[in-house]
Amino acid sequence: MTHPPEDELAATMDCEPTLVPVLEQLFTDLDALSLPAGDLLALYPDEVPARVLDLGCGKGALGRALAGRGAEVLGVDGHAAFLHEAEARVTAAGLADRCRYVAGDIRTPTAWGTGWPAVLWLGLGELIGPLDETLAALRPVLAAGGEVVLDDAHLRDADEGLADLGVQTEDEMRATIDAAGFDLVTMRRLDTPAHFAWWTAAGQQVAERAEALCAARPDLAGALRAFAARHREEMHGDDLTVTGVLLRLRAR
Ligand SMILES: C[S@@+](CC[C@H](N)C(=O)[O-])C[C@H]1O[C@@H](n2cnc3c(N)ncnc32)[C@H](O)[C@@H]1O
Repeated sequence: MTHPPEDELAATMDCEPTLVPVLEQLFTDLDALSLPAGDLLALYPDEVPARVLDLGCGKGALGRALAGRGAEVLGVDGHAAFLHEAEARVTAAGLADRCRYVAGDIRTPTAWGTGWPAVLWLGLGELIGPLDETLAALRPVLAAGGEVVLDDAHLRDADEGLADLGVQTEDEMRATIDAAGFDLVTMRRLDTPAHFAWWTAAGQQVAERAEALCAARPDLAGALRAFAARHREEMHGDDLTVTGVLLRLRAR
């Protein structure tokens, strides 16, 4: 089994590699920081997929929500402490018979087999690359007609002029999805006042954990305070020029 390098793990959590030893304490509330499970479940007005590969599952909140509706879930993550928590939480929820967790580097997504009806790629940013590269990497994992659920962001206003930062307009995003050989089943915007309130609270919660850890780890205090300040500043959303979206895509 390959393990992801620590700086990769740290990058998806928006933190410095020096903070990897305290990742578990910093992200005690990781489940609460995940996309609200209601947004994921809203993608499935009828039934959820029978089998789900949850790549970069963290503490498993989102896969667990699907398991609660009957899916069988394989969660993969590079951080062993998160996987132990995920196992404890499905056991407590009475869902242990439907969820398995394994450690590994999700940048090679076919390592957990092919023929999956559904793959979750959530909260992982550009770990593999921009949307077109991510979809190209995930496609071989899927069964015919299999689906990917991922979160991304497009420009709120097509005239914002951020194209040089690599942020697509909504039309460009739709074209990228089509060119990658996927049909867009649902594009769910994550820009309601409730989303902004959740985002702000999540940033605040992580920042508070970081401040509290400074006493126990004075050697990391500088990095922890910088991390806290960044989260307080960045984890809001109502004044952003981009709109977060949750995408349900089906391979053609
Ligand atoms: C921001 S969390 C997202 C967790 C979950 N998907 C969610 O949306 O709540 C990112 C997760 O990706 C994992 N991760 C980052 N890079 C990885 C890699 N190369 N291989 C395996 N896991 C990785 C981290 O350990 C962390 O649990």
